[in-house]
Amino acid sequence: MHLFHRQSGELYCEQVSVGELAERHGTPLYVYSQGALSGRYRDLSDALEPLDHRVCYAVKANSNLAVLRVLARLGAGFDIVSEGELRRVIAAGGAAGRCVFAGVGKSEREIEFALRRGIYCFNVESIPELVRINRVAARLGKIAPVAVRLNPNIDAHTHAKITTGTYQNKFGVPFERVEEACARAARLKNLRLRGLQMHIGSQLTKAEPFEAAVKKVIPLARKLAARHGLEFLSIGGGLGIVYDRALASGSPAWWQSPPSRGFITPAAYAGRLAPLLKPLGLRILIEPGRFIVGNAGILVTRVEYVKKTGVKTFVIVDAAMNDLIRPAFYDAFHEIVPVSRHTNLLVSSDVVGPICESGDYFCRDRPLPKVRAGDYLALMSAGAYGFVQASNYNSRPLAAEVLVNGARSAVIRRRQRLPELWAGETFPAWLR
Ligand SMILES: Cc1ncc(COP(=O)(O)O)c(C=O)c1O
Repeated sequence: MHLFHRQSGELYCEQVSVGELAERHGTPLYVYSQGALSGRYRDLSDALEPLDHRVCYAVKANSNLAVLRVLARLGAGFDIVSEGELRRVIAAGGAAGRCVFAGVGKSEREIEFALRRGIYCFNVESIPELVRINRVAARLGKIAPVAVRLNPNIDAHTHAKITTGTYQNKFGVPFERVEEACARAARLKNLRLRGLQMHIGSQLTKAEPFEAAVKKVIPLARKLAARHGLEFLSIGGGLGIVYDRALASGSPAWWQSPPSRGFITPAAYAGRLAPLLKPLGLRILIEPGRFIVGNAGILVTRVEYVKKTGVKTFVIVDAAMNDLIRPAFYDAFHEIVPVSRHTNLLVSSDVVGPICESGDYFCRDRPLPKVRAGDYLALMSAGAYGFVQASNYNSRPLAAEVLVNGARSAVIRRRQRLPELWAGETFPAWLR
């Protein structure tokens, strides 16, 4: 199913014209396809059918309440990293009892809130954290469910800022110390050791690192399951998506077409991992974020000026690094397409935003169809780690978000109003 596609040269999200959405709601504008994100969830969950499994969507990738509600209604669990994310899941109609709580720095307040709400499990990243959770649980007269997050020391061969499974990273308990951490958890009276967890990195496009990590962990998981009666093993998230047309299948709607050229698909992922995991007899959790929402969203922006310097053509748009920081932060590639195509003439262009930073660009020296001021452009595959990382830098309000479902569309987050930017600020007495 192609959910972003062209009709008579115009970009559509499902049955809704992206240009009309931009006219109606203004830009910068995030647009998400409900069909695309539900389809991705189902593809993955169906592929894992041979296992007793739960897909815990990683809320950090896109935490809009409507997105969470779509996934909750499909039966998803959630991977959360803060009280704020847990409150979002609950506000969207999800259950704390289907959430795993990750992160190296859980505060006492966050632990207490999650315990009171009946969290499924804390994925614990250190012995001091085990001790803290035990103390909070004892104070509340509760037994806290915990899993030990292990660091398998496996290089996922992805961008350095999204590698998490080596000893250079802050995450998890070193592989050689996991038995000791589990023994400690078992001795702490207000803890119940429920599982093991790992997450080796994000945007992994091949099966091999997942397979290597799973193969390394299985003997340990078997031993610890026998010793402590574990219930689950979570193999984390990290499934990569296609961002770049050049790497995709070449179809005009490549951002929905099944990845090719060696990219991992749900079937290949499950085909490689399920036979290894099934004999363990544990429930298998996965925590995908990007894979579910990444290709399901775009960022629509308007061209303000075309500035030619003799050396370069700068296409200056109304979106900026504060709306989508991925190119500046991770050197990420986003395909950029005109919302209405009027020409096939290509011009080597730098698409840049209005922020006063040289790093405020979406692409450099890329051949793009020639555009004029007032045209709309779409940055494809912006559904994951897009809006959630937006900031108010340069006192720019947060963009609006729209969800499309078939022929229907609705604003799921209105554009931030300027006075909201300074609403929490006050003058000290000496400046009044
Ligand atoms: C513990 C954990 N699980 C899941 C994810 C989701 O990763 P992805 O969006 O690559 O699937 C992350 C991402 O940082 C994570 O840290």
